[in-house]
Amino acid sequence: MSEPPTARHEPRRAGPVGRDPVRRGPWKALTAVVRCPVCRDALEVAERALRCPRRHTFDIARQGYVSLLSGGKRTVNADSAAMVQARTAFLEAGHYAPLTEALARLSAFLGLPGGGAGGERREGGGEGGSEGAEGRVVLDAGAGTGHYLAAVLEALPDSVGLALDASPYALRRAARAHPRAGAASWDVWRPFPVRDNCVDLVLNVFAPRNGGEFHRVLRPRGVLLVVTPTERHLGELRGRLGLLEVDPDKEERLERALSGHFVRERAEALEYTVELSPQEVENLAAMGPAARHVAPEELQARVAGLGGPVRVTVSFGLAVYRAA
Ligand SMILES: C[S@@+](CC[C@H](N)C(=O)[O-])C[C@H]1O[C@@H](n2cnc3c(N)ncnc32)[C@H](O)[C@@H]1O
Repeated sequence: MSEPPTARHEPRRAGPVGRDPVRRGPWKALTAVVRCPVCRDALEVAERALRCPRRHTFDIARQGYVSLLSGGKRTVNADSAAMVQARTAFLEAGHYAPLTEALARLSAFLGLPGGGAGGERREGGGEGGSEGAEGRVVLDAGAGTGHYLAAVLEALPDSVGLALDASPYALRRAARAHPRAGAASWDVWRPFPVRDNCVDLVLNVFAPRNGGEFHRVLRPRGVLLVVTPTERHLGELRGRLGLLEVDPDKEERLERALSGHFVRERAEALEYTVELSPQEVENLAAMGPAARHVAPEELQARVAGLGGPVRVTVSFGLAVYRAA
């Protein structure tokens, strides 16, 4: 567990607020979505920071993401710089493009509750209730580089997106992934710095799942789109590279984590094979959990042992859940 957020407390200053490029970016719309992680009050864009009425202030980093998760401690399982570099190179090579396309297609086709100040609300409203962003709101929890969020935003022209992740290296990329996406540092096991009932679509792609928080931030009838690897995913490589096995109970655990909050509306399987060069295999291994338990030199040696390009099964489950 990481430390509670420790916002910078900024004294009041007289005088006009300077010209601020951030006001023109996605954060202007996203202030209708986020809330102060310390006092849960509204956040506003103030110079190069977000600030609440109690002056809790969260800097917008030079690289464009907001540091909502302060306190200095690294979140367990946040991706390292090397993992993010490997993920970027692998995704750019297009081997997961069918998944990217499937997520974009599903997002456009599923009936989302719809944004706007008049959006449907759950009874009771709740703390930090939103006036509503103008368009649809997409939240990507554990967004990584923002690759999938960008594709979904492209498929939903009136939407704005928020990428949450604990890795500053991933967030630097996510902040530039799409003009309508903002990125913020957060540990998704903690209550999200997001208002109640203001999100239309939560994306969760190979990332930790916090069912209670997904439900709290979604509007009634909001959609949760979850992608998980199946047991066959990368089957040809697991033993030879020492990749972690996919837990056979993963599906059951997923259902357990979400039951009570969501109804499963649809499930799709996506399976195909790709031919990967040794460098691509190395990127694939280096962007996943293997990077945490196999040294880079050892990984390189195991990839060299494959003796050239390999054909690999890619196998995902895509599940659509509707907020109950
Ligand atoms: C396997 S990657 C998937 C990234 C992205 N969804 C994708 O598919 O490209 C998992 C991501 O979750 C992030 N992560 C892990 N634990 C987290 C936590 N507790 N809070 C927020 N992000 C976390 C990692 O930093 C990483 O970017």
